[in-house]
Amino acid sequence: MDHLSKNITWHQGGTDRLVQEELKGHRSRVIWLTGLSGSGKSSVATELERRLFQQSIHTTTLDGDNLRHGLNSDLGFSSEARKENIRRLGEVARLFTEAGLVVIVASISPFQADRERARARFTPGEFIEVYLSCPLEVCEQRDPKGLYKKARVGEIAEFTGISSPYEVPLHPELKIPTDQMTVTKAVDCILAYMTALEKGNSHEN
Ligand code: ADX
Repeated sequence: MDHLSKNITWHQGGTDRLVQEELKGHRSRVIWLTGLSGSGKSSVATELERRLFQQSIHTTTLDGDNLRHGLNSDLGFSSEARKENIRRLGEVARLFTEAGLVVIVASISPFQADRERARARFTPGEFIEVYLSCPLEVCEQRDPKGLYKKARVGEIAEFTGISSPYEVPLHPELKIPTDQMTVTKAVDCILAYMTALEKGNSHEN
């Protein structure tokens, strides 16, 4: 990482992740939802958070769109800006996992290298990349925000899938075809994966 800050010290907090996890009664993780605009990331994130809440799991959601209203309001959609966007989402997610939460990230995150960089900030098994695969034609037909229409007539530049690339994840933990299943089913798949992971972990312990 490029460090511009010099002469800085790392201060250890009063608790650590294990203490936080014990208090909360579950492991902290990142569920990183990636996919085209309109692939269902926000809907899946909302339903996933609701279902985890029912299981008394402590969560927070970092939605790319939402964070661009505040923390990331200085960023556009060039490759460089997206790289910085993903870096910040990854760093904030990391802070929340250290506080013992399950963090749901919903962000197009179109570039493999940026996703890999985010993953590298977590311990193995902690970062669960979920690719919401949905054909561009379907996303474009859904066009929930009317943005594809604008992108097609050139009113929005560098629009993912139209005038900016989306690099399909090479080794996501999960690939969910959201054009072929309901949001509920998609969330079922993620929860099943998380449960299997917990079981695997408890066997190790
Ligand atoms: S990312 O590519 O940097 O991960 P992010 O998920 O934060 O993107 O934000 C994507 C959201 O911004 C889309 O859901 C859409 O509402 C909006 N948006 C506006 N302009 C663009 C664009 N050029 N490309 C993609 N999404 C855009």
